[in-house]
Amino acid sequence: MKVWVLGSAGLVGRCLVEFLRTMDVQVIASDKKIVDITCFSELEKMFNEIKPDYIFNCAAYTAVDDAESSRELALAVNGIAPGYLGKLTLSTHCRVIHLSTDYVFSSENHIPFKEEDPTSPINYYGFTKLVGEKNLLKENPNSCIVRTSWVFGPGGKNFICSIANLLSSKEELQIAGDQIGRPTYCKDLVEALWDLKDFSGIFHFASSGSASRYDIAVKIFEYMKQNHIPVLCKQIHNVSSKSFITKAPRPLYSVLDTTKYENYVHKVSRNWTETLKELFNEPKD
Ligand SMILES: NC(=O)c1ccc[n+]([C@@H]2O[C@H](COP(=O)([O-])OP(=O)(O)OC[C@H]3O[C@@H](n4cnc5c(N)ncnc54)[C@H](OP(=O)(O)O)[C@@H]3O)[C@@H](O)[C@H]2O)c1
Repeated sequence: MKVWVLGSAGLVGRCLVEFLRTMDVQVIASDKKIVDITCFSELEKMFNEIKPDYIFNCAAYTAVDDAESSRELALAVNGIAPGYLGKLTLSTHCRVIHLSTDYVFSSENHIPFKEEDPTSPINYYGFTKLVGEKNLLKENPNSCIVRTSWVFGPGGKNFICSIANLLSSKEELQIAGDQIGRPTYCKDLVEALWDLKDFSGIFHFASSGSASRYDIAVKIFEYMKQNHIPVLCKQIHNVSSKSFITKAPRPLYSVLDTTKYENYVHKVSRNWTETLKELFNEPKD
């Protein structure tokens, strides 16, 4: 079985390649230097050479704030390119597994979002990811889209690792207590992508346990203290997200409901706090 991973240098891409290398499959990993997913002819050439059975698309424009100004590029990568993958694979046996985001949603109702709930992105990144979902399913309705949220893992930029670094380098932190989501451990996410690869349609996957960014900081603080990891921070202040001016607004509530995943795959995701031991024991890059 041949598996092609696009965006293999990113947080999820690297984790997926590492996971696939433990499986009995042939893995072809390509980053932006090898294939630019916004270029249909590059994709087509490589697709015809590899003849993959599965394409996992981990490539994306993920700089949420920069997407507000680099609109054309963000739309090309997140919105248009997934359609190219659908077009390439429609009349073949190859399946596309594509990642999307909780940022297609926004609400203050505090009810976890199901796959079929109305989308309402409040930033341009979320809008482009939604366009990508629609383009992929329009070109190849047999594709699988996995929306996930707040991904963390070894290496790469992510909220949990940034907080851990800040806790060991700053005496006080101000963290938003009014943004709530579901942190997702990268290693559990890639296993879920694998489990979902033969299903079509949209699925939600996240680690169990919704939390505010402030809750996360407190949990990591406690974990570091209990495990004798050096902490400089003495106080974490719970503040409103209005205290931080960002180019792109973030949804205050974007908790994904993962019941569909659980019913299809017959697994329940681990709570994100249970994965901290594994994360902190990973070798640093
Ligand atoms: N991380 C999260 O919290 C999160 C949450 C929800 C959903 N997701 C989704 O999960 C997926 C993976 O995200 P991630 O966290 O792994 O992001 P990431 O670390 O930013 O990785 C994305 C990769 O895509 C590459 N890329 C960008 N433009 C490309 C192009 N034109 N052609 C080929 N590759 C290109 C990037 O390369 P450069 O860095 O060189 O540009 C990067 O290596 C994305 O679809 C994202 O929307 C992530």
